Amino acid sequence: MCGIVGGISKKNITPVLINGLKKLEYRGYDSAGIVTLCKNNKLNRARAVGKVVNLEKRIKDKKTPMDGTIGIAHTRWATHGEPSSRNAHPHICNHSVSVVHNGIIENFLELKATQEADGYIFTSDTDTEVIGHAIHQYLQDSESLLEATQKAILTFKGAYGIGVISPKDPGHIIATRSGSPLVIGISNKGNFIASDQMALLDITKDFIYLLEGDIADITLDSVTIYDKDGNQVEREIKTSKLKSGQVSKRGYDHYMLKEIFEQPQAIRDTLESRITKDSVLLSAFGYKAEDIFKNTKHIQIIACGTSYNAGLVGKYWLEDIAKISTHIEVASEYRYRNPIILDNTLFITISQSGETADTLEALKALKKRSKGKNIHTLTICNSAESSLTRESELTFLTHAGPEIGVASTKAFTTQLVSLALLSVVMGRCHKQVSKQQEAKIVDGLNRLPGLIKQTLKQEDQIKELAKTFKDKFNALFIGRGTMHAIAMEGALKLKEISYIHAEAFPAGELKHGPIALIDKDTPVIAIAPNDRLLDKLKSNLQEVNSRGSQMIVFEDEAAKITPMKGMTIVPTTTDLGRITAPIIFTIPLQLLSYHVALIKGTNIDQPRNLAKSVTVE
Ligand code: G6P
Repeated sequence: MCGIVGGISKKNITPVLINGLKKLEYRGYDSAGIVTLCKNNKLNRARAVGKVVNLEKRIKDKKTPMDGTIGIAHTRWATHGEPSSRNAHPHICNHSVSVVHNGIIENFLELKATQEADGYIFTSDTDTEVIGHAIHQYLQDSESLLEATQKAILTFKGAYGIGVISPKDPGHIIATRSGSPLVIGISNKGNFIASDQMALLDITKDFIYLLEGDIADITLDSVTIYDKDGNQVEREIKTSKLKSGQVSKRGYDHYMLKEIFEQPQAIRDTLESRITKDSVLLSAFGYKAEDIFKNTKHIQIIACGTSYNAGLVGKYWLEDIAKISTHIEVASEYRYRNPIILDNTLFITISQSGETADTLEALKALKKRSKGKNIHTLTICNSAESSLTRESELTFLTHAGPEIGVASTKAFTTQLVSLALLSVVMGRCHKQVSKQQEAKIVDGLNRLPGLIKQTLKQEDQIKELAKTFKDKFNALFIGRGTMHAIAMEGALKLKEISYIHAEAFPAGELKHGPIALIDKDTPVIAIAPNDRLLDKLKSNLQEVNSRGSQMIVFEDEAAKITPMKGMTIVPTTTDLGRITAPIIFTIPLQLLSYHVALIKGTNIDQPRNLAKSVTVE
C-alpha cells in the first residue's frame, strides 16, 4: 500500500528518499514520486508510473538537478484516480506547498467544492490534493507551516499519514498522522519520516512512533511534537531491533520463497521463551492474561485475508482444546455490523502488520460499542510498534521477522503456533487441559521446525506438479475441519500470486453446489490428514474422481488414500496431530502456489493490485 519517505539532512536528500522508496516497494504500489526543495528554494518534482527505477530515470533526465537537502517522496497504490503520473504524489499547490499522503480523506468532495469555489485548481483525481490546498489557504494567515497544517487537519475526515514541505517555511517538514502509521527516524545525519521503519533502517535504528493525532515539526536538528489537542509532548525514542539485512532475499529468487524456507526458524523464534519442555508459559501473554483468560466466557476473532484463515483454525482449536465458544468474522464486516457483545468476551485481532485499517477500525468500534461491558482485547501481531498493539490490552508477538512477500507465509504459520499456545493456556485456565495433553501439544510444537524442514524437501516433486496448472484458469481446494481453513489459505495463495481463480470448500459441502464446477480442466486439491473424518473425506474424493477431475491429494502417509485414475498423491510426514497437521499441510500448498506463479511468470513478491498492508478501507 502507499508509502511515505521524507527527510531533512546535511547532504542531498534524493538518494536517501529513493533508497527508502525501494525499501517500501514490497508493500505494493503503482506509481512513485519525489519533491525536493532545491538550493534555489523552489520545489522540484519528478513522478513516474510503475517502479521506482522509472522514477530514477525521470530524475536523471531532469534539467534542474534534484539537489535539495529536504524532501518528501511517495509510492502510490491507487484508490481515488487511476495509476498515472498526474495522480502520483507528491502534490504541489501553487508552487508553495507540497504533500505526500497515505489514507483517505473521506470528505474530500465537500472540501474540493469549497476550494474550487475559492479558485483552487485541481490537477489530479486524488483526494490528496485537498490537503495541499487547505494548508496553502491557511498558510496565508499563519506564522508557520506547522500552524497552517494544524489548522488544516481539523477540517479533514478520514485517515491520514501526511508529510508537508514548503518554500515559505524552508528547513521544516511537518508530519502528522491519524489512522495511518508514521514514524520519525532520528540520526546525526538528519531527521526523517516514513510510513514504515523499513524505509529508514539503512540510516537509523532510532525511531519515534507518532501517536494518533500527533503532529511533528521536524528540522535538521530538532523534532517537536504536539498531541491532538495542540499540547507539546515528549514521545520516547525507541531503538528498533530490525536489521536492514533482514530485508534482503539472501540468495533466494523471491522473498516469498525465502520466507517459506524461513518457517522452521520463525517457529522456533515464536516458541522461544514461551514454553518449557512440557508446558506453555501463561506469562507470555502478559501479566494481566491469567485474570482475563480465567474470566473469558466467549471469544470473538477479527482479522482479514491470511490472518483470517489463521483465525479459522484458531476457532477449531479454542473450542476443541479450551472448550470456549469462539466466533470469527472478517473485520470489514464486523466493524459495520451491530453485533451482540456479551460480557466476558475476549476479542482477538490477528494481523501480520498490525496496521490493517479494517482490523484496526473494527477493534476501535467494538471498544466504543462495549463501553460498560466487561470485555478484553488481545492482538496476535508480527509488529511490536503497531497501531493494533497500541490499541490492545494484551499483545502476543508472532516473532516471524519481517515478511516482505505480499503473499503471507511465515506470518501465517507463526500465527497458527501462537493460536495453539493460546488454546493451551486458555484450556489450562478453564481446567480443560491435562498435564499430559499439554505436554503432548508442546512436544508437537517443538517437533514442528524439523517436520517443516522434511516437508520442504518435497519442493522438486511439487515443482513438477505445478506444471499441471500451466493452462488452467480454475482450481478447487477441499478439506474438512481445520483443513478447510488450510484449503482456504491454499486457494488464497494460488489466486493472489498466480491469478488462477481458486476457491476452497469444506469437502462435505461439495455436493451442495460446488460439485457442478468440476470438470477435467478444474484441478481439485485435497488435504487428507489421518483424522477421524478420513473416511468421510475418502468418500468425497470418490465423488470428485468419478466426475473426471484431475486431483492432487496431500496426505498424511498413514491416511493411505487409494490411488485413483487422474489422482496424484503426495504423502507428507506421518503421525501428525490436530495442531501439527494444519501447519504442516500449509507448506506444500505454499510451494505449489509459488511454483505455479513462477511458471505463469507473474510478479510473485508484488502481485498485481495487491498490497502488503492495506491501510485504507
Ligand atoms: C493484505 C495482504 C494479505 C494479508 C491481509 C491482512 O490483503 O495482501 O496478505 O493477509 O492484508 O493483513 P494483516 O497485516 O492484517 O495480517
